[in-house]
Amino acid sequence: MNVITSIRELKKHLRREQKNGRTIGFVATMGYLHEGHRRLMQESSHNHDVTVVSVFVNPLQFGPGEDFETYPRDEERDKTVCREEGVDVVFMPSAEEMYPKKMASSIAVEKGTDVLCGRSRPGHFSGVATVVMKLLQIVRPDAAYFGQKDAQQAAVLETMAADYNLDTSIRAVPTVRENDGLAKSSRNVRLSEAERKEAPAIYESLKAGVDTYRQLGKQKAVEQVSGTLAGLSGTVDYVELWTYPDLQEPGKEAERLVLAAAVQYDHARLIDNIIFIP
Ligand code: PAJ
Repeated sequence: MNVITSIRELKKHLRREQKNGRTIGFVATMGYLHEGHRRLMQESSHNHDVTVVSVFVNPLQFGPGEDFETYPRDEERDKTVCREEGVDVVFMPSAEEMYPKKMASSIAVEKGTDVLCGRSRPGHFSGVATVVMKLLQIVRPDAAYFGQKDAQQAAVLETMAADYNLDTSIRAVPTVRENDGLAKSSRNVRLSEAERKEAPAIYESLKAGVDTYRQLGKQKAVEQVSGTLAGLSGTVDYVELWTYPDLQEPGKEAERLVLAAAVQYDHARLIDNIIFIP
């Protein structure tokens, strides 16, 4: 496995692979890798000759007061996980390597950011889109794999790839969960014992909400999930239901929908969602 920190070196390595006819799959991460990340790597390895994983905690996507400084990091363990998954190249750039000077331009995400996480995290998706665009330019993968757990992120990136006619296909992979249903997340380690114990209620309530939607419609479903989550010790940031991936008000026709929730705990903000056909 190659561990590469320089953009120049990575480009040189990957252009050589592509010249030799090898296809490239790409998984972008912020590290502290878990089972969810592993699933994306497995998906990529299954479909491509070369799998590239980036590990980079991207300062652009953290707002003031968010957890950039304290985001969990463990580079050595991340390398071990990548090695175990048969990853070919791990790209671990420094902030200076990615942003040698302040970016003079950025990807402004203009649609679908007034809902879900976009509302409480202004600028977040522009920061995500900008770093992913940079990474896609560097890696030039045939496909890039993202988790459905971050449904809005996958939707924004899918739309960006279409808007900019990127050659990379953006693929969404189903959420990997703990045995009790809690979505795997690098931030789960920051839950207290009591918070960790009650957190599976988020997914449970979303599942119940999908049933309620089918019987009684959007308003009742959102009310029911909000009511259940209000009983948790964390603060409910949102419970929302939209079409997916457009994130619009559901219409009469049968389209994919997303029911999503975010709960803010003392040291971790948890998000989860279910994408379903009504
Ligand atoms: P990070 O939170 O490290 O997640 C990296 C990828 O793993 C994302 O596509 C995310 O959706 C996926 N993922 C996380 N938890 C998952 C789970 N339980 N099941 C399936 N997939 C899961 O998302 C980011 O980093 C960043 O915003 C990034 C895209 C790297 C840009 O900086």
